[in-house]
Amino acid sequence: MDSATIFQIQSALILLLMHSGVYVILRKRNSQLHAKLMGTAIIWDVLLVLQIQLTRGAVGKAMEAPQNSMILNIHVAMAITCVFLYLIMGYSGMKILKGDRSLLKWHKIFGPLTLILRTLVFFTSFFVVS
Ligand code: HEM
Repeated sequence: MDSATIFQIQSALILLLMHSGVYVILRKRNSQLHAKLMGTAIIWDVLLVLQIQLTRGAVGKAMEAPQNSMILNIHVAMAITCVFLYLIMGYSGMKILKGDRSLLKWHKIFGPLTLILRTLVFFTSFFVVS
């Protein structure tokens, strides 16, 4: 099995974890399990970016934006945005868990956006593997 396939399997499992995490909060109202699933997915996703960087020098390639295809640049821009959204989701999620619900509004706004973007990162990854 080549490295691209291994990365895509991990990416699919991360997405599955995230969608399950949203399911348990929206349908089961289980915030502890939601936090565990999302936290695991976020950490795993950051580790996945590190794996791709170490084996393929992804950051170096991404920096050559003018020479890269449009779909690769869109994929990279969405993936970077996802990492920033993870910081917002992790920070607001931990505050809510501690009982401070002032950021719940933002958690609810950025949550669906994060999920949609991460799903698009997965699908666009099929067009950028070389
Ligand atoms: C990409 C990551 C995440 C997404 C997409 C996400 C999405 C959501 C959504 C859709 C809700 C339901 C809001 C509602 O009631 O309508 C929610 C609630 C919640 N999230 Fe997250 N979340 C993420 C990460 C996290 C993390 C990392 C934590 C904790 C460390 C966390 C803690 C919570 C808590 C405690 C609630 C329950 C709020 C309540 O009691 O009503 N979330 N999240």
